[in-house]
Amino acid sequence: MKKPWAGRFTEKTSKPVEQYTQSISFDKRLWKYDIEGSIAHAKMLSKQGIIPKKDADAIGKGLKEIYREIEEGRFRFREELEDIHMNIESALIKKIGEAGGRLHTARSRNDQVALDIRLYLRAEVREIIALLKKLMAVLAGMAEKNMGAIMPGYTHMQRAQPVLLSQHLMAYAQMFSRDAQRFEDALKRINVLPLGACALAGTTLPVDREYVAGLLGFDAVSENSMDSVSDRDFAIEFLACSATLMMHTSRMAEELVLWSSEEFSFIELSDAYTTGSSIMPQKKNPDVAELMRGKTGRVYGNLMNMLTMMKGLPLAYNRDMQEDKGPVFDTVDTAKATLEILAGMLQNLKFGLKRMEAGAGAAFSTATDIAEYLVRKKVPFRTAHEITGRIVRYCIDSGKGLSEMTLQEYKSFSGALEKDIYTFIGTQESVKARKSYGGTSPEAVKAQIGKFRKGLKA
Ligand code: ARG
Repeated sequence: MKKPWAGRFTEKTSKPVEQYTQSISFDKRLWKYDIEGSIAHAKMLSKQGIIPKKDADAIGKGLKEIYREIEEGRFRFREELEDIHMNIESALIKKIGEAGGRLHTARSRNDQVALDIRLYLRAEVREIIALLKKLMAVLAGMAEKNMGAIMPGYTHMQRAQPVLLSQHLMAYAQMFSRDAQRFEDALKRINVLPLGACALAGTTLPVDREYVAGLLGFDAVSENSMDSVSDRDFAIEFLACSATLMMHTSRMAEELVLWSSEEFSFIELSDAYTTGSSIMPQKKNPDVAELMRGKTGRVYGNLMNMLTMMKGLPLAYNRDMQEDKGPVFDTVDTAKATLEILAGMLQNLKFGLKRMEAGAGAAFSTATDIAEYLVRKKVPFRTAHEITGRIVRYCIDSGKGLSEMTLQEYKSFSGALEKDIYTFIGTQESVKARKSYGGTSPEAVKAQIGKFRKGLKA
C-alpha cells in the first residue's frame, strides 16, 4: 500500500523500520476522536470555501461509514500506513476517491494528533471525575452509616487518640475530592483546540479555527502554532493528577491490607474482592488491595516517562512525541480500574466494630484529654503534659489503665484533678468532646459530611 508521503521517496521503507516507527498498534484507540475531528475540519473547509461543499459532504459520509466499520470490527488496520491518521485517510480516499484527498488541506498530522489526544483525554478525564465522585459518595455513605463507631487513630503507626471511624473514612473522601478538583482544573488546559496550527506555522488558507472549536466543544483556541504542536503539558498534567490520585488509592489499599490482617481484624474483605493461596487452603488474601498499591508504580513511572521524553525536545513537533500514548493510555486504564474496584471493595467489606472500639480504649489513648482537662483548670499546657506523662508512667509501672486509677492516686499527681476526671477519660467522651471545627466529634463529622455532600451535588 502506497504511503501518503511517498512522493519524494524512491526506495521502500525497510520492514523493521516500519515496525519500529508505526503507532497504529496502539494509537488505533484514538479512532473515534480522529474521525470526529476530521468531520469538523471538513465542515470548516467547506464553510470557508476552501473545498467544495459536495466534497465535504462526501468526506462526512465516508468517515461515518468508516466509523461503523471500525465499531463493528470490519476495518483492517495496516501497519504500513503507520498511524491512525493515515489509516483512516487512506481508507477514505479508497472509498470516495479524489474528494477524500481534500480532507488533509490546511492540516498536518502534527496538529491532528494533538487534537485527537485532547479529545480523548477530555472524555476520559470526565469519566475519571465521575468515578471519583462515585467513590466519594460511597465513602460519605459509609461514614454516615457507621456514625458513632469508634476506632483508634494512629500517628507513627502507634495508637494515638480515639477517633470516629467516620472521620477516618472522610479523610480519604477529602483526598479524593481534591483529586477531582485537580482533574477539573487540568480539563481547562486540555480543552483547547490545537487544530489549525498545521505542521508548525499555521496556513496560508483562510481557515476558521473558532468555528472548529465550537463544533468540537472546545473552550478556547490555542494561541501559538508552534506551541500547539509541541505542547504535551496537558497530558503531563493529567499524569501528575493521576499519580497523586494513585498515591491516595495506594494509601487506602495499604490500610485495607493492614486492617484485614488477623492482627488488626478491623475489616473483613468480601470473597469477591480477595483471592486464595495455591498452597495454603486456609488463606484469604487481600491481593486486590495489594495490586492497587502495586499499580501505583506504573503510573508514577508513566509520569517520569513522559517528562523525560519531553525534556530535550527542540521546537516544534518531534517524532519522540509519538511515545506519549503508552503512558497516557496505561494511566487512563489503571486509574479507571482502580477507582471502580476500590469503590466495590469498600461497599462489600464488613467492619469489625467491636475490635476497633476495644483498640481505641487501649494504650492510654485518652491521656491528652487529661492534659486538656488540666488546661481548663488553668494549668499551663506544658506542665499539664508533664503531669499526664507521669500519670501514664505510673500506670505502666503498676499495670493499670487510666480509668482504674483511684481519685487518691490522681490527686497525688495534681490537686487540680477532681472526681469528674472519670467523665473525660472514656473513649466515647473523648471523641464527643473534640468539637473543634474539623474535629472528630460526631457533631463536627456530621457537619463535615453535610458540607461534603453539598459539594458532591454542585
Ligand atoms: N503518529 C504520530 C504521533 O503520534 C503522528 C504525527 C506524525 N507526524 C509526523 N510529522 N511524522 O505523534
